[in-house]
Amino acid sequence: MRWRSEQNAAPLREGQGEPTNLAAVGRFYITTPIYYANDVPHVGSAYCTVNADAIARFHRLMGDEVFSLTGTDEHGQKLADAATKNGVSPQAWVDQTSTAFKAAWSALDVANDDFIRTTEPRHRTTVQKFLGEIYDRGFIYKAPYSGLYCVSCEDYYTEDALIDGKCPVHMKPAVSMSEDNYFFKLSAFEDQLLEWYEANPTAIQPATKRNEALSFIKGGLKDISITRTSLSWGVPVPWDSDHVFYVWYDALINYLTAIGYGTDPERFEQWWPSVHHLIGKEIIRFHCVWWPAMCMAAGIAPPANIFVHGWLLVGGKKLSKSMADDDSAPVKLTDIAPEQLTAEFGVDPIRYHLLREVPLGGDGDFSIEGIITRYNADLANNLGNLVARVATVVGSKCGGIGPRPMPDSPIADLAATVVADTVAAWTRFQPNAGLEATWRLIGAANAALEQAEPWKKDPGAAVDAVLGDALEVLRLVCILASPAMPSVTAEIWRRLGLSGSPADGPFDEVTTWGHYPGGVPVEKGDPLFPRKKA
Ligand code: MSP
Repeated sequence: MRWRSEQNAAPLREGQGEPTNLAAVGRFYITTPIYYANDVPHVGSAYCTVNADAIARFHRLMGDEVFSLTGTDEHGQKLADAATKNGVSPQAWVDQTSTAFKAAWSALDVANDDFIRTTEPRHRTTVQKFLGEIYDRGFIYKAPYSGLYCVSCEDYYTEDALIDGKCPVHMKPAVSMSEDNYFFKLSAFEDQLLEWYEANPTAIQPATKRNEALSFIKGGLKDISITRTSLSWGVPVPWDSDHVFYVWYDALINYLTAIGYGTDPERFEQWWPSVHHLIGKEIIRFHCVWWPAMCMAAGIAPPANIFVHGWLLVGGKKLSKSMADDDSAPVKLTDIAPEQLTAEFGVDPIRYHLLREVPLGGDGDFSIEGIITRYNADLANNLGNLVARVATVVGSKCGGIGPRPMPDSPIADLAATVVADTVAAWTRFQPNAGLEATWRLIGAANAALEQAEPWKKDPGAAVDAVLGDALEVLRLVCILASPAMPSVTAEIWRRLGLSGSPADGPFDEVTTWGHYPGGVPVEKGDPLFPRKKA
């Protein structure tokens, strides 16, 4: 069986380079993993959510029809344990923590189209339909099972995968479990998965992670246990009421619930399989092996694209709630809610940092010192300085009315390159490179001002020319940086005397040089990014 990953994909934009299913535009469905609702969100969860949100916003900006999904994973042993520890029912506990996730995303200005909770009736219906389909097709059977289980991962480990009997992700002891389970015939999909990845070389990005998934498949696939009798906090198995589905098996299906699998075929057709799953590196096996095989078993196409990111590290270790009791970490960033960071630095600066500091794909350090350094360099000294400088000099030399840019400005060519580079980077899931490209334009405008020194000159054509160009650069920067910093760019847009918003488009038209109208009032306002003390 083969499926086309480019299904539903519209033609490529110019400047996007090689056609990959990553660069496909037109309709764009993006998901984050659904976060375990055993605890409140932390900065590591915010990293993935903000990146997915900004990428979704970039696609909306380009005129694509976008559906962005996030949510909470609310079943399983870990959830049940957390509720018991807190003396409440699992439902009461997940109601509380999922509210905390929604609040955190709203504080970070995340504009998701849907928020799915796996305890919702709509999800139960989809899970039962989808798994019922796999059962009917003969890919599920019953057998006894015993193994070593890490409750934090909600996953079984083989003895040799453990380090001193502890799970390698959480460094917690794995416990021995034994039950009569239903199994999914994952082993039947080895060849089909390899064929699928062979035919779709960009389905897993980056290539290092694709290789990881491929070597896992080539190492041989064992059937997986997909139900539990040891707990009741899960989606009931429709054909056997003694069992609930294993949490991972129910969780992955959220991606289908939200787009109407089994309930709204037309809607489902619209969004599947042209999906982009943004996930962290420790859940590759679930998404790149189990999930496509489950889709094949149910007779639907596997997801078109899985983009794998690394971890935010604190003191060299994964920033994680499960490690909050690890006192060897130099800063207890695990205890810092994303909202505390936005209160200290502002929403858009934290969004910018999460997008700019650690490129999607690798691991990277996350620290308060790092936030301050980047904030002062990129936001206060670069963007903030350009806005303040231009507004001040327009005030003193042009009576507060912004001049028009030069049609043949020396910056115009650079601007065209920057727009193309920015688009290419964002469509390849590289917000950091996209922002870096955009900031080249800010650097060029600041350098042109330094060279021309309009503040030392008498009003006239030379002053107007350099200021008009700088205003046009700011207009373009507002558009290109709006997915990262929606509020700040809207504020700069307003101060430039522009109407509407930076996201109004049409993108291809408004990102060409020369649309700053001139003759409009420019407002100075308060500093956008007051410098922070290191
Ligand atoms: N519930 C599962 C996902 C099911 S998706 C069908 C799960 N939840 S999680 O809350 O543990 O992790 C969710 C995501 O957050 C993962 O992709 C994980 O990589 C990401 N992160 C958690 N800590 C992180 C960092 N320190 N850095 C970057 N991402 C991090 O797994």
